[in-house]
Amino acid sequence: MSMNIAIDGPAGAGKSTIAKRLAKKLGFIYVDTGAMYRAMAYYFLQHNIDAKDENAIAAACPDVDVTITYENGEQQVLLNGENVNGVIRNEEVGNMASSTSVYPVVRKKLVELQRQLAKSADVIMDGRDIGTCVLPDAQVKIYLTASSATRAKRRYDELTEKGVSCDLAEIEKDIIDRDYRDMHRETSPLRQAEDAVLVDSSEMNIDEVVDAIYQVYSEAR
Ligand code: DC
Repeated sequence: MSMNIAIDGPAGAGKSTIAKRLAKKLGFIYVDTGAMYRAMAYYFLQHNIDAKDENAIAAACPDVDVTITYENGEQQVLLNGENVNGVIRNEEVGNMASSTSVYPVVRKKLVELQRQLAKSADVIMDGRDIGTCVLPDAQVKIYLTASSATRAKRRYDELTEKGVSCDLAEIEKDIIDRDYRDMHRETSPLRQAEDAVLVDSSEMNIDEVVDAIYQVYSEAR
């Protein structure tokens, strides 16, 4: 049986950075499920589909094919055969993903793909509903969080470093809005699974978080 590590938590908690490091350390495959929701959101944006129009979203879903491949160990998301990795990492797509991931028709499609990936290999999968819904039997479940102020500051530093001008208060507001949407939707809202270990990274650096999760993994093995 494959070993599955589920990492859930709000936007900007550092899930992907941590999960990538751990995957390397353990020789596991890293599965970024947010990227799948982003790929679908990108399609909806490209086709001018209104996030509030559930019927239009449902009608479009059969035309959207999301697949995952790996290049040098890095996950690549293909949208109808085209690699969209380079165009889905921005706030517009992130907000659209948050808005459109509320629909069961969108989730069903991606949850199936995620379960297939987890069955075939040892994976570290991050998202919002991995421990609660996608992989309820994962051997290790982590709920990784940090205060909204810490998460906003990290995002601000990341953008400023890239030369993108941005406003800290606006970033924090965006984060709070996204948390609210992700936590209050009807289908698979973001919440800590009962058997998940809580890790609050507000006062921790990356190495400390990796070590903390590695510890949980070692005990579960
Ligand atoms: O982790 P991320 O920022 O790339 O995710 C973008 C959005 O996708 C997030 O706001 C909610 C949605 N999402 C989800 O509903 N379930 C997941 N497992 C992963 C992401």
